[in-house]
Amino acid sequence: MSILVTGGAGYIGTHTCVELLKENYEVVVIDNLSNAKKEALNRVEKITKKPIKFYQDTVLNESALEHIFQENRIDCVVHFAGLKAVGESVSNPLLYYENNVKGTITLLKVMKKFNCKNFVFSSSATVYTAENPILINEDEPLGANNPYGRTKLFIEYMLKDLYASDSSWNIAILRYFNPIGAHPSGLIGENPNGIPNNLMPYIMKVATGELPCLGVFGDDYDTPDGTGVRDYIHVVDLAKGHVLAIEKYSEPGVHICNLGTGVGYSVLDIVKAFERVNGVKINYEIKDRRPGDIATCYADPSRAKKELGWVATRGIDEM
Ligand code: UD1
Repeated sequence: MSILVTGGAGYIGTHTCVELLKENYEVVVIDNLSNAKKEALNRVEKITKKPIKFYQDTVLNESALEHIFQENRIDCVVHFAGLKAVGESVSNPLLYYENNVKGTITLLKVMKKFNCKNFVFSSSATVYTAENPILINEDEPLGANNPYGRTKLFIEYMLKDLYASDSSWNIAILRYFNPIGAHPSGLIGENPNGIPNNLMPYIMKVATGELPCLGVFGDDYDTPDGTGVRDYIHVVDLAKGHVLAIEKYSEPGVHICNLGTGVGYSVLDIVKAFERVNGVKINYEIKDRRPGDIATCYADPSRAKKELGWVATRGIDEM
C-alpha cells in the first residue's frame, strides 16, 4: 500500500514516515521544505533502511500533485503540509488561509480526480473552544481563536461537507495535543527555522546556548504551580497513532480522534524534567501571560484507546 505524506520532511511528518516504513508501507513525500530540510528524509531512510520517493513542491501546485498521482498508485494521503505559527497567522492571515485551506482544497480535488478517497488529516486541539472542561473529549464545542486555529477548524468542516456529499470518502481527523520529543536514534527531531514559538524547541535552544533564557509565560494561572498545563505527547507515540488510523479506520466515514495522553504537565514540570534527564541548567524568567493562552488543556484519550487500540506509552522523562 502506498501512502502520500504531505509535509513529510517536517517534525511530525518524518516520525510518521519512519513508522509507516517500519510497517512496510511505501512512502511518497511532497514537501516544499519551507520549514524542513531534505536531510531529514535521508535520515528517515537511514533509520529504516528503506527508500522514500520525494517531490519538492507545494500542495498548492495542482499540476505537481497530478503528476505525483500519475507516477504513483497512491492509496491514502496523510496530510501534514501547512503553516503552524499562531503569531504569524495573526499578522499574515491570508498566507495561512491560502497555504492551509487552499492547499487542502487543491489536494482533495486531485485526490477526487484520481479516485483516492482515504485521507488522514493533521488537526489540533486548538480547534476546541477555550471554555472547555479540563479533560477534552471529541464532542466538545469547537471554535478556534486565531487564524491558524481557524484554518484547522475550517478544514475539518470542509472534510465533513465532503463526506456528506460523497459517502465513499474515508476521512480521519486526528486532533493532536502538544507533540514533543524525538526519535530514539537521535537522527530526527524538531528543528524549526528562526526563534521557536513552542515550549520544547525553545528550551532546547536555551540548553544549547543559542538563546539566553526561557520566558515562562505567566505563573499566576489557576494550576498547581501557577504555570500553564498541557498534554505533552511523544512524537513517536503520535506517529504510531497515524499508522493505526490508516489500519483501523478502514470503512468510509469521518472519524475524529484526539491523540493525547490524558496527563497534564506544567511549564515548570517540563523545565525540571529536561534539567534532570539531560543534566543541564535551563535559565528561565517569569514573563507576562501570552495572549490567547489558557491555564490548562489536556485530552480525554479514551476514544483513541477504544477505536484505535492506541495509548501513549512514553512518559515525561523519555519525552
Ligand atoms: C501552541 C498553539 C496551538 C498549536 C500548538 C502546536 C498558541 C496560543 N497555541 O499550543 O495553537 O496547535 O502550539 O504548534 O500559540 N510557553 C512558555 N514559554 C515559551 C513557550 C511556551 O512559557 O517560550 C508555555 C505556554 O504559555 C504554554 C506552554 O508553554 O503554557 C505550551 O506552549 P506551546 O508549546 O506554545 O503550545 P500551546 O500554546 O499549547
